[in-house]
Amino acid sequence: MLDWNDPIASFVDTDAVTKTNEATKPKNTAELVTDLPNSSKLLSESLAPVRAEDKRIINGEGDINQLAPFKYPWAWNYFLNANKNHWTPLDVNMTKDIQDYNHRLTTEEKHVYENVLAYLTTSDILAMRNIGLAVMEKMTAPELQIYQARQVFEEAMHTWTYQHCIETIGLDQSEIYNRYRVVPEIYQKIKMANDKLSSVMKPDMDLKNPDELDNFVHSYLFFAGVFEGCWFYNGFSPIFSLQRRGLMTGTAEQLQYIMRDEVMHSGFGMRVVKEIVKEENLTLDEQRLRDMWDESEAAEITYANYLLKEPILGYNAEDHIEHFRFIANRRARQMNIFEPFPGAENRLAWLDEQANMRKEKNFFETRVTEYQTGAALNWD
Ligand SMILES: [Fe+2]
Ligand SMILES: [Fe+2]
Repeated sequence: MLDWNDPIASFVDTDAVTKTNEATKPKNTAELVTDLPNSSKLLSESLAPVRAEDKRIINGEGDINQLAPFKYPWAWNYFLNANKNHWTPLDVNMTKDIQDYNHRLTTEEKHVYENVLAYLTTSDILAMRNIGLAVMEKMTAPELQIYQARQVFEEAMHTWTYQHCIETIGLDQSEIYNRYRVVPEIYQKIKMANDKLSSVMKPDMDLKNPDELDNFVHSYLFFAGVFEGCWFYNGFSPIFSLQRRGLMTGTAEQLQYIMRDEVMHSGFGMRVVKEIVKEENLTLDEQRLRDMWDESEAAEITYANYLLKEPILGYNAEDHIEHFRFIANRRARQMNIFEPFPGAENRLAWLDEQANMRKEKNFFETRVTEYQTGAALNWD
């Protein structure tokens, strides 16, 4: 009968086991100690405790395998808050979107819907690779890496979400996924991000070298402040404008979840950059920042004029572009740098309200838990 405390006992030759044990039994305690290979030496060695004040965002030389004591408790709080926005795309009912896409959207609205997905899906792959392959390995405090590990997971979830929308609606996948390559107006934004990513995705990058450090800081600032903070934030708004009219509400609901994540990614990344600037005693180059904003604005204008070459009801290219400038100023204030577009107007006053899911009654009918746990957060 099988002994569940020792399931293989009944299959073992007990005589043989006894003989083996006799042969290998140590003769006395002294032999036991001296026979041990260098393990006793290792045990006698010890390491100094980790001190919070020795931690650094980058270029730290301490033990990064120990979470606490925290030097950056705000980073741990980001991780805790991120876990309050947990969902999968399968949680959202997409049935109405199939009907809307096939029977209610105009040709211009379909163009907007498809191209927003085409742009976002490639962007999220870039965002995932940036954090997972270029940024995370350079951090030397585990509380930062843990939030970034969560961020990598979230970017993967976002990619799944777009794929779920594309698949559910029945769009031509090879065409949609290749669109950023064949449409120059989309490719311009992707290329700008990809070039920056390529310049920092080097395992041998030496952040003690001032030029390399400068490049890394400006690249991370671009990804956090522009790519996630403006282009994503602004990128969802054409779909939210459809949602306001009762169209593609399933997709919009998915994007509301993603937007929460992206606002946190942006806030976290900018905070990290600010801390690096402080710790490494850096000065951000104003001309370099000016160039970043100008290049980003130019790419957004090109994109918006393609996306909205024909305006849709309640949303046009001019509003989209002006709103990019308005959000860019907001991100700059968060970074304590100059506002790049002084006087930019809030053309989409409804967006912040709509992005804030606390006011979306229908949304909560399916995800009450998220409402309760996420309600305390400030998503800006
Ligand atoms: Fe994302
Ligand atoms: Fe992100």
